[in-house]
Amino acid sequence: METLLDQKLVSSWFDVQSVPQTYVHPPEKRPGKLNVPLCNNIPVVDLGSHDRRDTIHRISKASEEFGFFQVINHGVPIKLVDDTMSVFKEFHALPQKDKAIEGSKDPSRSCKLYTSSENYANEEVHYWRDVLTHPGHPFEHYMQFWPEKPTRYREVVKAYLEEVRNLSYVILELLAEGLGIGTEFFCGGLTESPVLLSNHYPPCPDPSLALGLTKHCDPTLITILLQDADGLQVFKDGNWIGVEPVPSAFVVNIGYVLQMISNSKFKGAEHRVVTNSRVARTTIAYFIHPSNESLIAPAKALCNPPLYRSMKFKEFLRNFKSKAANAEAVLKVISLSSS
Ligand code: OGA
Ligand code: NI
Repeated sequence: METLLDQKLVSSWFDVQSVPQTYVHPPEKRPGKLNVPLCNNIPVVDLGSHDRRDTIHRISKASEEFGFFQVINHGVPIKLVDDTMSVFKEFHALPQKDKAIEGSKDPSRSCKLYTSSENYANEEVHYWRDVLTHPGHPFEHYMQFWPEKPTRYREVVKAYLEEVRNLSYVILELLAEGLGIGTEFFCGGLTESPVLLSNHYPPCPDPSLALGLTKHCDPTLITILLQDADGLQVFKDGNWIGVEPVPSAFVVNIGYVLQMISNSKFKGAEHRVVTNSRVARTTIAYFIHPSNESLIAPAKALCNPPLYRSMKFKEFLRNFKSKAANAEAVLKVISLSSS
């Protein structure tokens, strides 16, 4: 018999002595050395700087070399950043039944709570995380399905989404300028359907056996992430490096869609999440997605020659979902050379 969601949530039972067998990864997929260097190599960019050319240069270089950077002085009020993190921590700490109810108001299931991955029923090994996700916009359509516990959820998360959306335009404009494709490039359908996703990784009795999230690259233009503790690692030149938590900073990473649009100038970096035995970790990801019908293709100015096929975002997403954890397989489908 199918177990109820509220009993499956990792946060319902994590306080155990050992990692259940269904969460133990085969040796080649385990995190290995857990204390990877927390890297100062991943650039921290000051968006408050008045030297715009320098900012563009830093962001572009980071997007080429790492596919990752962090931003500080980003203009999102710190109190709102802290309040939003608190609201999600409170949400994930709610009684399991409440979470299950709050996360299942949407009959079409775009607002939802799940555990491990959306593919729970078919995955070989589960991941040590719970997830609450819902579309960011338009508010009029989706807000009715958002949680109402904690009581300030809708008010705080709406304000946060408005601010982070504005920040996303600032960052994308800088990236567009760095690519030389015109600052309006990302204004239309390409950024129309953002999604919010809050990951929660409870403490794990043996972090060497489990994973919060397997190695993957995001199906986004960029992802803007708020993290409250370390655990995020980036795969760079065959090694894992940790993304250092910088108070109130956002971590920005390039996803497949911007890799395609930039014709591989910017790299969608592979990353994963490891767990720890001390503290629960909560993150808030803002996924910048195009609308389903948007055409994604290398920008004309950068095609010499184009490396990727053009396709509707929904087609990309369908391919991505069937191959999510296998970058090679995803690249094969989107690349021109192998079609
Ligand atoms: C993701 C992701 C990182 C984190 O949700 O795609 O990579 O630290 N999250 O939670
Ligand atoms: Ni990711």
